[in-house]
Formats: sequence, C-alpha cells, structure tokens
Amino acid sequence: MPERAEHAFAPAQKDDDFAASVFDGLSRPLKSLPCRFFYDSIGSALFEEITRQPEYYLTRAEIAILEANAPEMLGGELSGGILIEFGSGSSIKTEILIRLMPRLRAYVPIDISESALLEAKRRLTSRFPRLDVRPILGDFSHPVALPPEFERLPKLGFFPGSTIGNFPPAEAAQMLRMMRLTLSSGGRLLIGVDLKKDARQLVRAYNDAKGFTAAFNLNLLARINRELGGTFDLNAFRHRATYEPLEGRITMHLVSTKEQAVELDGARIQFSEGETIHTESAYKYTIDEFRRVSRSAGWLPQRVWTDPDNLFSVRELV
Ligand SMILES: C[S@@+](CC[C@H](N)C(=O)[O-])C[C@H]1O[C@@H](n2cnc3c(N)ncnc32)[C@H](O)[C@@H]1O
Repeated sequence: MPERAEHAFAPAQKDDDFAASVFDGLSRPLKSLPCRFFYDSIGSALFEEITRQPEYYLTRAEIAILEANAPEMLGGELSGGILIEFGSGSSIKTEILIRLMPRLRAYVPIDISESALLEAKRRLTSRFPRLDVRPILGDFSHPVALPPEFERLPKLGFFPGSTIGNFPPAEAAQMLRMMRLTLSSGGRLLIGVDLKKDARQLVRAYNDAKGFTAAFNLNLLARINRELGGTFDLNAFRHRATYEPLEGRITMHLVSTKEQAVELDGARIQFSEGETIHTESAYKYTIDEFRRVSRSAGWLPQRVWTDPDNLFSVRELV
C-alpha cells in the first residue's frame, strides 16, 4: 500500500472517475481526455522535468517575478493565517513565499497527485520544521473543505503555474468562483497567468527538444493501459502541440499515426489515421483579458507583476 497523504479531507480522485471520464472522452466524435489525469506519479515527475527545460519559460519567469516581488505581494506577513495552494505540485515556488512568513499558522497544498503532495510535504517539513503542512488530496474545481480549526483564520490563496489556463475562460471563471468559496470572504488570491506572446515561442515551450512534453502527453495512454487494462500502442500515437491565435490557446493532442483499434475493458475504440485525442489546452491572456475573467468570477483584480520580458504575470485578486 502506498503511504497516503495525511489529512486528506477531500475525497481522493477515484479510479471509477478516471474510467468513466476515459470512456466518455473516447466515445465522442472528437475524442478528448481531461488534462487532470496527466498527473499520476509518473506524470507529476515528467511535469517537473518539463519545468526545467530551456524552452519552458513559464516556470523560470514566474519564479523570477516571485523572487523580485514576494515581500510586496505578501504586504506584511500573514501572521497566524494560512496559505492555501491550488494545484500545488512540487510546491517549489511556494517556498519563496513561505520563507517570508515565519509566523504562518499552516500551509495547505491541494492537489490530485498524491505522490506530489507526499514529496512536497516531506521536503517542506524538513526545510521548515515549525511549519504545519496539511495536504489535501482533492479537486480544486469543487469547493474544498478545510480543517475546521482553519475556517476562521485569515487566508491567502496561491494558484501558480498558469494552471488556470487549462480551462476555457468561462470554466476558468467557474474555478475562480470555487476558490473564492474555499478561501471564504476576505481571502486574497495570488495567481500566475501566462501572457500572450510570439506564437513560435509558445509552440516551442510545448514541444521541448528532449521530448519531455511528448512523454508527458503519451503517459496518459500509458496510464490508461496500466490502470484500466487498455491496449494503446504508444508507438502508434504522437504528440502534437499547436497555437490557435484566434482562441489564444495552445492545444495538445495525441495523433494516431495509423488506422487502429484499441481494446478497453471489452470495448473496441477505433482510430483512423491522423485522428486526434485532445488532451490539454493552455489559454494565454493579455493583462486586461484576464482582469475581465477575474471580475466575471466576482473577484476584484488588484496589482499585476510581470517579468522584464513580459512573458508571464502574477496577479492579486481580492
Ligand atoms: C501545471 S501543474 C502546476 C504545478 C505547480 N503549481 C507549478 O506551478 O509548477 C498543475 C498541477 O495542478 C494539479 N491539478 C490539475 N488539475 C487539478 C484539479 N482539478 N484539482 C487539483 N489539482 C489539480 C496537478 O496535479 C499539478 O500538480
């Protein structure tokens, strides 16, 4: 039995959710799979590799913004309050904030990846022995129940990585509404959002030369094989990431390189040559476009910080 994340107040992502979503997505005329299923332990590790690739400017730019501006972002310390992170992954960026908050009452990382939560908790408790780290294994697209003793404490939300870009604007607004409920009134949110830029630079970021993004994308099929007994031939699909300027988004697909059939729990899923499975979108915004999304979710956009090359933004919502 793998060690479980402690204090998993929200229900874990269940296998039947995975199975039902896969069947549903692969039965559609335009096949698709939800991107949250990328993040099993292998997917989470591959994502960390992606963040270290030279083409993936997002992580470096966001870290630079946080390092240059964290004291101003925090605006004095959140003394006795709690820091809640949505889609926390490795929590590496969060350390920049935690270092400046010695009197933080607790840090609550929320993620669907159990392995990422366990690893982050191990690292943070060894680096910050006095910090109460309370991971929640759960889905941030629903309001997340916090430990009751935290309910009345001041809350700062943190949502880095431009994970919000994985949702079309209307759904992104819905996520932001959920986060507002989780943070309750008076909560503040610092959110990382990737900016619109030259299409070639965007496309390179999702097609790194060493192939980590391709491996991350294909791992979704490998996960279906491992967990649901699928028969996907990983050599018969290839990664594709393109930029759609009208929509302002990168889309990632897996492309079937030949006509083929895949067995999945007694069902036969047919693919024609060139047919695709949509696996992820990554929407890019101008400063004003994301202000509008935030406002439509009931947040008041405040300060915006960017890096010197205007690649990425971190925004404050209250
Ligand atoms: C793009 S990565 C960002 C990781 C990290 N925050 C960073 O900035 O590098 C997205 C993270 O969100 C998590 N995630 C994706 N969908 C989620 C959901 N619906 N609920 C909770 N976590 C989710 C993934 O497991 C992953 O750790």
